[in-house]
Amino acid sequence: MNRLTMSSFAIFLSIGMWSCQQSSTSNKEKTQELVSLPDSVQFRDTIKGEEVSLYTLRNKNGMEVALTNFGARIVSLLVHDKDGVCRDVVLGFSKAADYHNPTEKYFGPVVGPFGNRIANGKFSLDGVEYTLPVNNGPNTLHGGLDGLHFQVWEARYLSDKAVEFTCSLSDGQEGFPGNRAIKVVYSLSDDDELIIDYEGKTDKKTVLNLTNHAYFNLNGEGSGTILNHQLQIFADKFTPVDSTLIPTGELRDVKGSAFDFTILKEIGRDIEQDDEQLKFGKGYDHNFVLNGTKHEAYNYACQLVGDQSGIVMDVYTEEPGVQFYSGNFMSDKVTLKNGATDSFRTGLCLETQHFPDSPNQPSFPSTEVAPGQLYKTKTIYKFSTK
Ligand code: GLA
Repeated sequence: MNRLTMSSFAIFLSIGMWSCQQSSTSNKEKTQELVSLPDSVQFRDTIKGEEVSLYTLRNKNGMEVALTNFGARIVSLLVHDKDGVCRDVVLGFSKAADYHNPTEKYFGPVVGPFGNRIANGKFSLDGVEYTLPVNNGPNTLHGGLDGLHFQVWEARYLSDKAVEFTCSLSDGQEGFPGNRAIKVVYSLSDDDELIIDYEGKTDKKTVLNLTNHAYFNLNGEGSGTILNHQLQIFADKFTPVDSTLIPTGELRDVKGSAFDFTILKEIGRDIEQDDEQLKFGKGYDHNFVLNGTKHEAYNYACQLVGDQSGIVMDVYTEEPGVQFYSGNFMSDKVTLKNGATDSFRTGLCLETQHFPDSPNQPSFPSTEVAPGQLYKTKTIYKFSTK
Protein backbone atom coordinates (compact mmCIF):
# COMPACT_ATOMS: atom_id res chain seq x y z
CA MET A 1 0.00 0.00 0.00
CA ASN A 2 1.56 3.36 -0.96
CA ARG A 3 1.40 6.29 1.39
CA LEU A 4 -1.56 7.90 -0.39
CA THR A 5 -3.60 4.68 -0.34
CA MET A 6 -2.65 4.16 3.30
CA SER A 7 -3.88 7.58 4.28
CA SER A 8 -7.10 7.23 2.25
CA PHE A 9 -7.62 3.91 4.00
CA ALA A 10 -7.08 5.54 7.37
CA ILE A 11 -9.54 8.31 6.50
CA PHE A 12 -12.08 5.72 5.29
CA LEU A 13 -11.65 3.75 8.50
CA SER A 14 -12.02 6.75 10.72
CA ILE A 15 -15.15 7.89 8.87
CA GLY A 16 -16.54 4.38 9.24
CA MET A 17 -15.75 4.36 12.92
CA TRP A 18 -17.03 7.82 13.79
CA SER A 19 -20.02 8.39 11.60
CA CYS A 20 -23.05 6.19 11.49
CA GLN A 21 -24.03 7.65 8.17
CA GLN A 22 -20.94 6.33 6.40
CA SER A 23 -21.06 2.68 7.39
CA SER A 24 -19.24 -0.06 5.49
CA THR A 25 -21.37 -1.85 2.94
CA SER A 26 -19.19 -4.91 2.45
CA ASN A 27 -20.72 -8.36 3.06
CA LYS A 28 -23.45 -6.96 5.30
CA GLU A 29 -27.14 -7.58 4.91
CA LYS A 30 -29.14 -4.97 3.04
CA THR A 31 -30.91 -3.97 6.24
CA GLN A 32 -27.60 -2.76 7.64
CA GLU A 33 -26.29 -0.88 4.63
CA LEU A 34 -25.92 2.88 4.77
CA VAL A 35 -28.11 3.11 7.79
CA SER A 36 -28.96 6.69 8.64
CA LEU A 37 -31.49 8.68 10.62
CA PRO A 38 -34.83 9.33 8.90
CA ASP A 39 -35.09 12.44 6.76
CA SER A 40 -36.47 15.17 9.01
CA VAL A 41 -38.34 16.97 6.22
CA GLN A 42 -40.14 13.82 5.14
CA PHE A 43 -40.80 12.90 8.76
CA ARG A 44 -42.49 16.17 9.75
CA ASP A 45 -46.29 16.43 9.94
CA THR A 46 -49.20 17.98 11.76
CA ILE A 47 -50.94 15.69 14.25
CA LYS A 48 -53.96 16.79 16.30
CA GLY A 49 -53.42 20.27 14.85
CA GLU A 50 -49.87 20.53 16.19
CA GLU A 51 -46.46 20.31 14.57
CA VAL A 52 -44.59 17.05 14.96
CA SER A 53 -40.89 16.98 14.11
CA LEU A 54 -37.72 14.99 14.47
CA TYR A 55 -35.05 15.91 17.03
CA THR A 56 -31.60 14.42 16.64
CA LEU A 57 -28.69 14.02 19.05
CA ARG A 58 -25.17 12.79 18.40
CA ASN A 59 -22.23 12.02 20.67
CA LYS A 60 -18.53 12.27 19.96
CA ASN A 61 -18.33 8.60 18.91
CA GLY A 62 -20.97 9.05 16.23
CA MET A 63 -23.78 7.35 18.16
CA GLU A 64 -27.01 9.06 17.10
CA VAL A 65 -30.61 9.11 18.21
CA ALA A 66 -33.69 10.55 16.54
CA LEU A 67 -36.66 11.44 18.72
CA THR A 68 -40.04 12.93 18.03
CA ASN A 69 -42.38 15.09 20.10
CA PHE A 70 -45.33 12.86 19.15
CA GLY A 71 -45.35 10.64 22.22
CA ALA A 72 -41.79 11.70 23.18
CA ARG A 73 -40.62 8.73 21.14
CA ILE A 74 -37.34 7.19 20.15
CA VAL A 75 -37.52 6.86 16.36
CA SER A 76 -33.99 5.61 15.58
CA LEU A 77 -30.92 4.74 17.59
CA LEU A 78 -27.71 4.27 15.60
CA VAL A 79 -25.01 2.26 17.34
CA HIS A 80 -21.76 0.73 16.06
CA ASP A 81 -21.47 -3.04 16.04
CA LYS A 82 -18.37 -5.14 16.78
CA ASP A 83 -16.99 -4.39 13.27
CA GLY A 84 -17.63 -0.65 13.54
CA VAL A 85 -20.65 -0.89 11.26
CA CYS A 86 -23.64 1.17 12.23
CA ARG A 87 -26.98 -0.46 13.04
CA ASP A 88 -30.33 1.08 13.88
CA VAL A 89 -31.28 -0.86 17.00
CA VAL A 90 -34.74 0.64 17.60
CA LEU A 91 -37.79 -0.18 15.46
CA GLY A 92 -39.81 2.76 14.17
CA PHE A 93 -41.32 4.66 11.27
CA SER A 94 -39.92 7.16 8.78
CA LYS A 95 -43.00 9.40 8.87
CA ALA A 96 -44.65 10.99 11.90
CA ALA A 97 -48.15 10.17 10.64
CA ASP A 98 -47.37 6.43 10.79
CA TYR A 99 -47.14 6.75 14.58
CA HIS A 100 -50.69 8.08 14.82
CA ASN A 101 -52.12 4.64 14.25
CA PRO A 102 -54.54 2.97 16.64
CA THR A 103 -53.37 -0.53 15.61
CA GLU A 104 -49.71 -0.21 16.55
CA LYS A 105 -49.34 2.55 19.07
CA TYR A 106 -46.32 1.65 21.11
CA PHE A 107 -43.24 1.95 18.89
CA GLY A 108 -40.75 3.89 21.01
CA PRO A 109 -42.92 6.22 23.10
CA VAL A 110 -43.03 7.24 26.71
CA VAL A 111 -46.00 5.32 28.08
CA GLY A 112 -48.05 6.66 30.93
CA PRO A 113 -49.31 8.22 33.07
CA PHE A 114 -49.44 4.60 34.17
CA GLY A 115 -47.30 2.23 32.09
CA ASN A 116 -48.60 -1.35 31.82
CA ARG A 117 -51.93 -2.56 33.22
CA ILE A 118 -54.47 -1.46 35.82
CA ALA A 119 -57.00 -4.20 36.54
CA ASN A 120 -60.53 -3.57 35.29
CA GLY A 121 -59.71 0.11 34.72
CA LYS A 122 -60.29 0.96 38.37
CA PHE A 123 -58.32 2.03 41.43
CA SER A 124 -58.94 4.03 44.60
CA LEU A 125 -56.97 6.78 46.30
CA ASP A 126 -57.97 8.08 49.74
CA GLY A 127 -61.36 6.39 49.43
CA VAL A 128 -62.18 7.88 46.01
CA GLU A 129 -62.61 5.38 43.18
CA TYR A 130 -61.32 6.35 39.74
CA THR A 131 -62.54 4.71 36.55
CA LEU A 132 -60.38 4.60 33.44
CA PRO A 133 -61.20 3.64 29.87
CA VAL A 134 -60.37 -0.03 29.29
CA ASN A 135 -58.36 -0.77 26.17
CA ASN A 136 -56.86 -4.23 26.75
CA GLY A 137 -59.45 -6.89 27.46
CA PRO A 138 -60.99 -5.86 30.79
CA ASN A 139 -57.98 -3.73 31.75
CA THR A 140 -56.38 -0.35 31.12
CA LEU A 141 -53.03 -0.56 29.36
CA HIS A 142 -50.35 2.16 29.10
CA GLY A 143 -52.47 5.07 30.33
CA GLY A 144 -55.55 4.37 28.22
CA LEU A 145 -56.55 5.21 24.68
CA ASP A 146 -55.10 8.70 24.70
CA GLY A 147 -52.11 8.26 27.01
CA LEU A 148 -48.75 10.02 26.83
CA HIS A 149 -47.83 8.02 23.71
CA PHE A 150 -50.51 9.88 21.75
CA GLN A 151 -49.80 13.41 23.03
CA VAL A 152 -47.96 16.06 21.06
CA TRP A 153 -45.30 17.22 23.54
CA GLU A 154 -43.47 20.55 23.67
CA ALA A 155 -39.83 20.04 22.74
CA ARG A 156 -36.62 22.01 23.13
CA TYR A 157 -32.96 21.19 22.75
CA LEU A 158 -30.99 21.60 25.97
CA SER A 159 -27.73 21.05 24.02
CA ASP A 160 -26.58 19.07 20.97
CA LYS A 161 -26.74 15.99 23.23
CA ALA A 162 -30.01 16.55 25.10
CA VAL A 163 -33.63 17.30 24.28
CA GLU A 164 -36.45 18.00 26.74
CA PHE A 165 -40.08 17.06 26.16
CA THR A 166 -42.88 18.42 28.34
CA CYS A 167 -46.56 17.61 28.42
CA SER A 168 -49.54 18.61 30.59
CA LEU A 169 -52.32 16.23 31.49
CA SER A 170 -55.52 17.70 32.90
CA ASP A 171 -57.44 16.52 35.96
CA GLY A 172 -59.63 13.61 34.88
CA GLN A 173 -57.90 13.10 31.51
CA GLU A 174 -58.28 9.40 30.67
CA GLY A 175 -59.81 9.07 34.14
CA PHE A 176 -56.67 9.85 36.17
CA PRO A 177 -56.74 12.53 38.89
CA GLY A 178 -54.63 15.68 39.01
CA ASN A 179 -53.44 18.39 36.71
CA ARG A 180 -50.07 16.91 35.95
CA ALA A 181 -46.89 18.32 34.44
CA ILE A 182 -44.66 15.66 32.87
CA LYS A 183 -41.08 16.20 31.74
CA VAL A 184 -38.83 13.72 29.96
CA VAL A 185 -35.23 14.50 28.96
CA TYR A 186 -33.33 12.25 26.57
CA SER A 187 -29.57 12.69 26.49
CA LEU A 188 -26.59 10.95 24.93
CA SER A 189 -23.33 10.70 26.84
CA ASP A 190 -19.90 10.32 25.29
CA ASP A 191 -19.78 6.91 27.02
CA ASP A 192 -22.43 5.70 24.57
CA GLU A 193 -25.32 5.93 27.01
CA LEU A 194 -28.85 6.95 26.13
CA ILE A 195 -30.17 8.44 29.36
CA ILE A 196 -33.86 9.05 30.04
CA ASP A 197 -34.83 11.33 32.93
CA TYR A 198 -38.52 11.37 33.83
CA GLU A 199 -40.23 13.91 36.10
CA GLY A 200 -43.81 14.53 37.13
CA LYS A 201 -45.78 16.85 39.41
CA THR A 202 -49.46 16.92 40.29
CA ASP A 203 -51.92 19.20 42.10
CA LYS A 204 -53.99 16.26 43.41
CA LYS A 205 -52.94 12.84 44.65
CA THR A 206 -52.43 10.56 41.65
CA VAL A 207 -50.47 7.54 40.38
CA LEU A 208 -47.54 7.71 37.99
CA ASN A 209 -45.53 4.95 36.35
CA LEU A 210 -43.55 6.23 33.39
CA THR A 211 -41.42 4.13 31.09
CA ASN A 212 -40.25 3.91 27.51
CA HIS A 213 -41.65 1.35 25.11
CA ALA A 214 -38.85 1.09 22.52
CA TYR A 215 -38.70 -2.16 20.58
CA PHE A 216 -35.03 -3.14 20.36
CA ASN A 217 -33.34 -5.43 17.90
CA LEU A 218 -29.59 -5.25 18.52
CA ASN A 219 -28.85 -6.84 15.13
CA GLY A 220 -30.69 -3.92 13.54
CA GLU A 221 -34.29 -3.11 12.66
CA GLY A 222 -35.65 -5.62 10.16
CA SER A 223 -32.84 -8.14 10.67
CA GLY A 224 -35.08 -10.98 11.87
CA THR A 225 -35.93 -12.69 15.12
CA ILE A 226 -34.79 -11.57 18.56
CA LEU A 227 -34.95 -15.17 19.82
CA ASN A 228 -31.19 -15.62 19.36
CA HIS A 229 -30.33 -12.50 21.34
CA GLN A 230 -28.93 -13.30 24.77
CA LEU A 231 -30.47 -11.75 27.86
CA GLN A 232 -29.56 -11.55 31.51
CA ILE A 233 -32.04 -10.04 33.97
CA PHE A 234 -30.87 -9.22 37.48
CA ALA A 235 -33.99 -10.64 39.06
CA ASP A 236 -34.54 -13.71 41.26
CA LYS A 237 -38.32 -13.25 41.21
CA PHE A 238 -41.01 -12.17 38.78
CA THR A 239 -44.67 -11.24 39.21
CA PRO A 240 -46.83 -14.05 37.76
CA VAL A 241 -50.06 -12.94 36.08
CA ASP A 242 -53.60 -14.11 35.48
CA SER A 243 -54.92 -14.80 31.99
CA THR A 244 -55.50 -11.04 31.44
CA LEU A 245 -51.87 -10.28 32.40
CA ILE A 246 -52.69 -8.73 35.79
CA PRO A 247 -50.21 -9.75 38.55
CA THR A 248 -51.66 -12.17 41.05
CA GLY A 249 -49.68 -10.46 43.85
CA GLU A 250 -47.23 -13.34 44.22
CA LEU A 251 -43.49 -12.79 43.82
CA ARG A 252 -42.35 -16.11 42.36
CA ASP A 253 -38.80 -17.47 42.26
CA VAL A 254 -37.45 -17.72 38.72
CA LYS A 255 -35.13 -20.57 39.69
CA GLY A 256 -35.66 -23.72 37.66
CA SER A 257 -38.22 -22.09 35.37
CA ALA A 258 -38.28 -20.52 31.90
CA PHE A 259 -38.14 -17.18 33.72
CA ASP A 260 -34.62 -17.79 34.98
CA PHE A 261 -32.45 -15.20 33.20
CA THR A 262 -30.05 -14.89 36.13
CA ILE A 263 -27.25 -15.86 33.78
CA LEU A 264 -27.02 -14.77 30.14
CA LYS A 265 -29.30 -17.04 28.10
CA GLU A 266 -30.75 -17.15 24.63
CA ILE A 267 -34.24 -15.68 24.67
CA GLY A 268 -35.60 -18.52 22.54
CA ARG A 269 -34.18 -21.30 24.69
CA ASP A 270 -37.18 -21.82 26.96
CA ILE A 271 -39.85 -19.67 25.34
CA GLU A 272 -41.83 -22.64 23.98
CA GLN A 273 -41.85 -24.51 27.29
CA ASP A 274 -45.17 -25.86 28.48
CA ASP A 275 -45.64 -23.19 31.14
CA GLU A 276 -48.93 -21.52 32.07
CA GLN A 277 -47.26 -18.13 32.46
CA LEU A 278 -45.74 -18.31 28.98
CA LYS A 279 -49.16 -19.30 27.64
CA PHE A 280 -50.83 -16.30 29.31
CA GLY A 281 -48.18 -13.95 27.89
CA LYS A 282 -47.96 -15.74 24.52
CA GLY A 283 -44.26 -15.69 25.39
CA TYR A 284 -42.50 -13.36 27.82
CA ASP A 285 -44.63 -10.38 28.84
CA HIS A 286 -43.81 -10.20 32.53
CA ASN A 287 -42.47 -7.91 35.20
CA PHE A 288 -39.20 -9.00 36.80
CA VAL A 289 -38.41 -7.90 40.37
CA LEU A 290 -34.89 -6.46 40.33
CA ASN A 291 -32.69 -8.07 42.96
CA GLY A 292 -30.66 -5.06 44.05
CA THR A 293 -27.54 -5.76 41.95
CA LYS A 294 -26.03 -2.31 41.58
CA HIS A 295 -24.21 -0.38 38.92
CA GLU A 296 -23.06 2.76 40.70
CA ALA A 297 -26.21 4.23 42.28
CA TYR A 298 -28.59 2.39 39.95
CA ASN A 299 -30.28 -0.98 39.87
CA TYR A 300 -28.64 -3.12 37.21
CA ALA A 301 -31.74 -4.29 35.37
CA CYS A 302 -30.47 -6.36 32.47
CA GLN A 303 -27.97 -7.01 29.75
CA LEU A 304 -28.99 -7.77 26.17
CA VAL A 305 -26.56 -9.01 23.51
CA GLY A 306 -27.18 -9.04 19.75
CA ASP A 307 -26.04 -12.43 18.43
CA GLN A 308 -24.97 -11.13 15.00
CA SER A 309 -23.84 -7.62 15.87
CA GLY A 310 -22.06 -8.22 19.18
CA ILE A 311 -23.84 -5.06 20.39
CA VAL A 312 -24.36 -5.13 24.15
CA MET A 313 -27.02 -3.05 25.87
CA ASP A 314 -26.84 -2.71 29.65
CA VAL A 315 -29.87 -1.20 31.35
CA TYR A 316 -29.49 0.67 34.65
CA THR A 317 -32.46 2.19 36.42
CA GLU A 318 -33.92 3.70 39.57
CA GLU A 319 -37.05 1.59 39.07
CA PRO A 320 -37.70 -1.63 41.02
CA GLY A 321 -38.85 -3.70 38.04
CA VAL A 322 -38.47 -4.37 34.34
CA GLN A 323 -41.15 -5.65 31.97
CA PHE A 324 -39.63 -8.04 29.46
CA TYR A 325 -41.94 -8.25 26.44
CA SER A 326 -40.72 -10.54 23.66
CA GLY A 327 -42.75 -8.99 20.83
CA ASN A 328 -45.44 -11.66 20.99
CA PHE A 329 -48.16 -9.51 19.45
CA MET A 330 -46.06 -8.35 16.50
CA SER A 331 -47.67 -9.65 13.31
CA ASP A 332 -46.65 -7.86 10.09
CA LYS A 333 -49.23 -5.14 10.58
CA VAL A 334 -46.99 -2.15 9.81
CA THR A 335 -43.98 -1.21 7.66
CA LEU A 336 -40.90 0.01 9.50
CA LYS A 337 -38.28 2.62 8.50
CA ASN A 338 -36.18 0.29 6.38
CA GLY A 339 -39.12 -1.36 4.61
CA ALA A 340 -39.30 -4.47 6.81
CA THR A 341 -42.56 -5.31 8.57
CA ASP A 342 -43.08 -5.82 12.29
CA SER A 343 -42.82 -9.61 12.09
CA PHE A 344 -43.43 -11.84 15.10
CA ARG A 345 -40.73 -11.39 17.74
CA THR A 346 -38.42 -9.20 15.66
CA GLY A 347 -38.25 -6.66 18.45
CA LEU A 348 -38.37 -6.78 22.23
CA CYS A 349 -39.09 -4.30 25.00
CA LEU A 350 -37.34 -3.89 28.32
CA GLU A 351 -39.57 -1.43 30.14
CA THR A 352 -38.13 -0.28 33.46
CA GLN A 353 -41.05 0.37 35.77
CA HIS A 354 -42.95 0.00 39.03
CA PHE A 355 -44.94 -3.21 38.99
CA PRO A 356 -48.10 -3.51 36.88
CA ASP A 357 -51.40 -2.84 38.67
CA SER A 358 -49.59 -1.33 41.69
CA PRO A 359 -52.52 1.00 42.51
CA ASN A 360 -54.56 -2.13 43.35
CA GLN A 361 -51.75 -4.10 45.00
CA PRO A 362 -50.83 -2.71 48.43
CA SER A 363 -47.87 -5.09 48.78
CA PHE A 364 -46.14 -3.64 45.69
CA PRO A 365 -43.91 -0.53 45.88
CA SER A 366 -46.21 2.49 45.80
CA THR A 367 -46.84 4.51 42.64
CA GLU A 368 -48.72 7.29 44.43
CA VAL A 369 -47.59 10.87 43.97
CA ALA A 370 -48.94 13.66 46.16
CA PRO A 371 -49.09 17.42 45.52
CA GLY A 372 -45.78 19.03 46.42
CA GLN A 373 -43.90 15.81 45.72
CA LEU A 374 -41.58 15.47 42.71
CA TYR A 375 -41.80 12.18 40.82
CA LYS A 376 -38.32 11.63 39.43
CA THR A 377 -36.72 8.56 37.91
CA LYS A 378 -33.85 7.76 35.57
CA THR A 379 -33.01 4.88 33.23
CA ILE A 380 -29.75 4.46 31.32
CA TYR A 381 -29.20 2.27 28.25
CA LYS A 382 -25.47 1.81 27.85
CA PHE A 383 -24.07 0.42 24.59
CA SER A 384 -20.81 -1.42 23.98
CA THR A 385 -19.68 -4.42 21.92
CA LYS A 386 -18.17 -7.80 22.55
C1 GLA B 1 -46.55 -4.02 26.82
C2 GLA B 1 -47.51 -5.03 27.30
C3 GLA B 1 -47.76 -6.03 26.22
C4 GLA B 1 -48.20 -5.37 24.97
C5 GLA B 1 -47.24 -4.32 24.57
C6 GLA B 1 -47.74 -3.53 23.40
O1 GLA B 1 -45.28 -4.49 26.77
O2 GLA B 1 -47.10 -5.65 28.48
O3 GLA B 1 -48.71 -6.93 26.65
O4 GLA B 1 -49.44 -4.79 25.17
O5 GLA B 1 -47.01 -3.44 25.63
O6 GLA B 1 -48.10 -4.31 22.32
